[in-house]
Amino acid sequence: NAEVLVAALLAYLLGSIPTSVWVGKWFFNLDIRTQGSGNAGATNTIRVFGLKAGLPVLVFDVFKAWLAVTLSYWLGNDSFTANQEVIYRIILGGLAVIGHVYPVFAGFRGGKGVASLVGVVIALFPAAFLVILVFFILVFLVTRIVSVSSMSSALVFPFVVIFVFDEKSLPLIILAVAVALFVPYTHRENIKRLINGTEKKFDFGKNRIT
Ligand code: G3P
Repeated sequence: NAEVLVAALLAYLLGSIPTSVWVGKWFFNLDIRTQGSGNAGATNTIRVFGLKAGLPVLVFDVFKAWLAVTLSYWLGNDSFTANQEVIYRIILGGLAVIGHVYPVFAGFRGGKGVASLVGVVIALFPAAFLVILVFFILVFLVTRIVSVSSMSSALVFPFVVIFVFDEKSLPLIILAVAVALFVPYTHRENIKRLINGTEKKFDFGKNRIT
């Protein structure tokens, strides 16, 4: 129905809001994609512009994807079975993440989808998010590298869903596997840097340029 199409479009447009690019342009007159790791994401915003700029970017990027999934409560949900509703919510979340990585408002050059995936997982599976968050923090404390923390968290996500939560919903399992494949894909450059030994430890913006 038409409402479903409107929700899908809105989900993509919400995800497409290029928070880090706009914050860089508006407040620092710089394109974040020419600085630091070159990524249009919260991590790089903290790295280049500091926590005061980067934390709001992180919060908004999580929020926009959460909101995209939550559109399912307002639009097009009347005739769905419970299982169809889950699939619908996953598709809305997926469109938000695609918007974040390929934003129509920033020349289709966006981020790596981690913060937006956090928003999707909070909306769809909050308990799994908490477990993954603990895992992410532990990996970060050991490695101090955000990309390693992001990728390893994505890789364990399907195992957490299946073995910790004993999830039986096939759509949710497929989502988790898709995340585990997609996040390393968006981190291709980071993987190259890790292999070359040039991936930097995260300094919370101590060497920011502003
Ligand atoms: O969320 C992206 C993060 O995992 C890596 O970001 O800027 O270090 O490539 P960056």
